[in-house]
Formats: sequence, C-alpha cells, structure tokens
Amino acid sequence: VSRNTVAVAYDRLIAEGFLSARVGAGTFVAGSSGSVVAAPSMHRRQGPPAGTAGRQAVSRHRHARRGEPGHGEPRRAPGGGGATPRPLWRPIVDAQVAMAPPTTIDFRVGVPDPALFPMQTWRRLIGRELRHTAIDPAGYGDPAGQAALRTAIARHVGLSRSVRAGADDILVTQGAQQALDLIGRVLIEPGATVAVEEPGYRPARLLFRSLGARVVGVPVDGEGLDVAALPAGARLVYTTPSHQFPLGTPMSLARRTALLDWAERHGAIVIEDDYDSEFRYGDRPLEPLQSLDRRGRVLYVGSFSKTMLPGLRLGFLVTPASLRPALHAAKRLTDYHGEVASQRALARFIDDGLLSRHVRRARREYGARREEILTALAERFGAWLEPVPSAAGLHVCALLRPEVTLDLAEVIGRARQAQVTVESLADYCGQEPARQGLVMGYGAVPRELIEPGLRTLLRCFQDAAG
Ligand SMILES: Cc1ncc(COP(=O)(O)O)c(C=O)c1O
Repeated sequence: VSRNTVAVAYDRLIAEGFLSARVGAGTFVAGSSGSVVAAPSMHRRQGPPAGTAGRQAVSRHRHARRGEPGHGEPRRAPGGGGATPRPLWRPIVDAQVAMAPPTTIDFRVGVPDPALFPMQTWRRLIGRELRHTAIDPAGYGDPAGQAALRTAIARHVGLSRSVRAGADDILVTQGAQQALDLIGRVLIEPGATVAVEEPGYRPARLLFRSLGARVVGVPVDGEGLDVAALPAGARLVYTTPSHQFPLGTPMSLARRTALLDWAERHGAIVIEDDYDSEFRYGDRPLEPLQSLDRRGRVLYVGSFSKTMLPGLRLGFLVTPASLRPALHAAKRLTDYHGEVASQRALARFIDDGLLSRHVRRARREYGARREEILTALAERFGAWLEPVPSAAGLHVCALLRPEVTLDLAEVIGRARQAQVTVESLADYCGQEPARQGLVMGYGAVPRELIEPGLRTLLRCFQDAAG
C-alpha cells in the first residue's frame, strides 16, 4: 500500500482512540502497555479490540482510495429495523408531501424570488458580524435571541403591522415553524384539542399532531375562520387572518372580534400566523388580532421566510408575559438560541431601512406578477375557475366553479408534463371531500414566464375538458 494510505489509517486510528502517538517515541496501541498514556476517549470507549478495529479501518480506507482518491468512503449507519418511531408518527410520515422537482415554469406556493433579494448587501452584513462574533467571548446567549434583533423586530412590526410589542416581548425563532413548535410544547396537553383552518397549513396541522394533539379542522368561508364551528373544547386555535392559507381571504373585523370573544369565553389561546402579509396590494389591512386583543389570548407569529429567504430560518413570536418564562425555557431546551451572526445581520438590515426598501421593491414586482395572473384567471379561465378575493401575499387561489365537472388533477398532471407546476387546493385539505381549486404562487416564476405558463395551462384545461 502507498505511504499515504498508511498515514491516513494511522491518523484515523489515533483520532478514534485506538492508537496513541508520542513525538520522537513512536505510535502505540493505546492502553496496551504501561509505557503509553491512552487517549482520554479510550477510558470511555467500549469498542472492539484495537487490533480488529484497526485492520477494519485500514481495509475500509483501501477500498475508499480505489473509488475516490483522497477521500474516505462514506460510511452508512447500521441498517436493520430494531428502532421504530412511536405509532403516532406513522400517519405523519405518510402525510409528508415530497417536494416535486422544479419545472421550467413554476407557480409553486410559498417561496419568494431569490433573484430579488439583495444578496450582496446581506453578504456584507454577515461578513461583518462574523468578524465581530469571532472576537466576542464564546458562549451561549439569551434564548430570546439577540437583543438588537428583538428591538429591531419590535419597532418594525409596530410600524408595518401595528403589532403592539416591546423588545422584551419578542422571542426570535428559526422560522414560524419553530414558533409553532414552542407554543405546542408549552400549551398542548396529550390529547388536547387544537383547531386549525380547513383548508390550511399542513406543517402546522402535522406538527400539532406530532405533539399529541387531537387536531380538528374548522371550515373557512368568505369572512375567514368560521368561529361558530369551533369545537368547544379547543385549547388552541391556529389561524392565518391576514391572508388565509391557502385561500387568501382576509378575516373580517366581525370575525376577529368574535374569535377573541370565543377565546376568552373558552379559555383558549389563538395563534395568529402572519406569514406573508407584508406583501399587500390593497388598502391598509385590518388590525392584527394581536393588537385587537386586550386579554393576552393571542400569540403573534412572524416569519422572514417570505420577506427575506426561507433558508435563513428566521422568524419570531410575540409572547404574552404569562407564557414568557415557559416559552424561553422551551427555546433553550430546543436549540439554546439559534444562530448569532444572521440574527445580528438581520438587526442591522432592519435598522438601516434595508428590509423596508427590499419589501417595497419586491412588492412592486410581485404586484405586477399577481395582476397578470388575476387578469388571466378572470378573462381566460373564467369558465372553470373563480378567483378568491385577497389583497396580500405571494399566491392566489381560484376555486373550481361548482357546476364544472372537470378533473383538476388531470389538468395539473398535464401541466406538469408540459413543464408547468400549479398546485391543487385539495392538497391543503385535511378532510374529505376536499375543496377543488388551484393555488398559484408568483414568487418562483419570473414575470416573462407567466404568460407562456398561463398559455400552457389554458391548453391543459381545454384538453382535459375534451
Ligand atoms: C401559513 C404559513 N405559515 C408560515 C410559513 C413560513 O414558515 P417558516 O417561517 O417556518 O419558513 C409559511 C410558508 O410557506 C406558511 O405558508
């Protein structure tokens, strides 16, 4: 074997604690002779005899070099079916929808356009924070998140969304999803009823189920969540009042008030997920539930997945004082406090007015895309579809007209074959019969591809209609 192979084998055996090397003396099997001080890990290790493991490591390495010079062979975890998840997880795993591969023209829901994001500015801000954090004393921080970011978020959501919060009320999370997880951990007793919107946001529904809740879908009509249909025993109500997901309907003021009254009467907590309403295209929106609430019944959840990028995993939760210690403890037990450099970079991004500027610019572009889709839906697809009125967000929904007997799954399948992705409303339904319609996002589709995409979609409707 080459010298290199032997050197790598030695390194690996030393790293794993089987050998011990002393400069000028040589390399010894660790722990086998009084002359060798075994590596500390040896005292803990309960592995196979050093000789056997050593031979296996050398042999593994020899194989690796044949296929992939210079790199270790990727090692697989031991197989077998000894470990199984709790039964609760089986339907949750089955319900996961695999991300379909992208098509040339992609009206998928829930993603912003990365091309609109000021990446160079972000890179500069992150670079700066990495220099700073490198000289900061190492250690764990506040579970609520970086103080500068909490202050920036409180000011920002106060101005942009009329949310009433000070820096102490903000808990920075890894996206809205972690905020929902923390709330669930702190509030859901096993078997407790959690009400969610139907149709609604699948990751929320599945998360609450995974935490042992009995999740009940509550219908949504033209005014939003139907408060009269809420199950009396619900401990938590999850809702998207600004831009119902995925229908798009804003919750009316009457419903907002009714929901808060209901929560007060039933001792329930309302989660207000305000995931994408910074992109709004109409008049000033209604007050969030959080600012209408006088009794601390609302947990407001925000996300930077649409206004920035989903991969940054940044979001936040506005915590009522009564739940704060438990939520902070849950955050600490989950991941201590998230990542520091991007939190600090985001604080500066907000404080320097760069977030507002980015949102303003992106809103103009998204508004143009949205207009083009809505106009086409009304003028060319009107025989089959009826758009749901909405005034915010990054997607629109159109319902299949009740008198139409078209198979929408077939239309969607044909479109996919022709390299156009559109989503089915049925995929957002947790109950049968699923509502029929299309959900079309305009974050992932550049403006110049909208018209060709709509033309293809129209042809698919015509073909499916025969
Ligand atoms: C209803 C809803 N809530 C929240 C989010 C954002 O989740 P996160 O902040 O975890 O990326 C999305 C993203 O698509 C969403 O549709």
